[in-house]
Amino acid sequence: MSGPNSDYDPVEVTPLKPEEVDRARAAALAAIEAATDAEALKRVRIEHAGDRSPLALANREIGALPPQARKDAGQRIGQARGAVTQALAQRQRVLDAEQEERMLVEETVDVTLPTDRVPPGARHPVTTGSELIADIFVAMGWEVAEGPVIEAEWLNFDALNLGPDHPARTMQDTFWTDPQDHGTVLRTHTSPVQARTMLTRTPPIYVICPGRVFRTDEYDATHSPVFHQVEGLAIDEGISMAHLKGTLDHFATAMFGAGITTRFRPSFFPFTEPSAEVDLVCFVCRGVDPEDCRTCRGEGWIEWGGCGVVNPRVLRACGVDAERYSGFAFGMGIDRTLMFRHGIEDLRALFEGDVRFTTAFGSDL
Ligand code: PHE
Repeated sequence: MSGPNSDYDPVEVTPLKPEEVDRARAAALAAIEAATDAEALKRVRIEHAGDRSPLALANREIGALPPQARKDAGQRIGQARGAVTQALAQRQRVLDAEQEERMLVEETVDVTLPTDRVPPGARHPVTTGSELIADIFVAMGWEVAEGPVIEAEWLNFDALNLGPDHPARTMQDTFWTDPQDHGTVLRTHTSPVQARTMLTRTPPIYVICPGRVFRTDEYDATHSPVFHQVEGLAIDEGISMAHLKGTLDHFATAMFGAGITTRFRPSFFPFTEPSAEVDLVCFVCRGVDPEDCRTCRGEGWIEWGGCGVVNPRVLRACGVDAERYSGFAFGMGIDRTLMFRHGIEDLRALFEGDVRFTTAFGSDL
């Protein structure tokens, strides 16, 4: 019959000897103290507090002791393991705090540092101005039409009653593309877009044509070899000069405010008959006591563009039944219109791309 082994000598169970337990405990505490980061501490935890650590293995030996020796040994091991667990937790807290401290330092953002961020772009005032004009007409049910800037001579001139020998041809200082006998020009006005519209569509036609145009002008405060024009064309039954006047008055008021209307002065254009120059009530003095007004030089009026009833020869050249339909057309400079509207004194400001000028128009995107 077997009973507890009374011959068993506890001194022989080496791992449970007080000095062995103290040594394992001291080794664990030293390793914990020496762990300088979370990774190292993780390794220390496995080595000194894991299932195969000296203290855990010693703990398993307790059962082999005679009952009277178990209590002492159990207490010794328990205390040692408790101290190690506590030291691990303590060290973990210290390392976590250090880690956080380091992150705060390393990831600090100096919000006072100057930045070199590129400011966002904005659309050019000529673009937004052209759209503003187009919107005024779109609101009346008109459509926007566009055409190429390199245009057939026939559409730029001949279709508009400016035959090869017409004296008015030389009035338009034309850029010809090489070779000149190819009959291609940089369009001198946006009227060819109207010719294109009449050739491709059947009336009624109500189109507004904004676009870039070219003339061999000097570059100065009021001229540029590249500028922008907006032309309008209405073709319908029974269209007269009265419709033209009403449309331009509405355009002027929408653009410059109440009270800014138009007047017509007789003029000549090959593509309209009768033709007129359009003047605007001076938007500075409003025609009231204009004597001292520097903008209109005492006139009370400012020249804005040209207009007229479409010449039946143009209608016929563009395939429109001139017996049934009539129409009106008008054209003015967009740049000039914007100069009036915003008090811009030098046309060149609109072309030189200086953002100090363009940002004053806001970053309307
Ligand atoms: N196309 C003319 C110009 O550039 C302007 C205009 C258009 C005049 C329509 C009358 C009618 O000078």
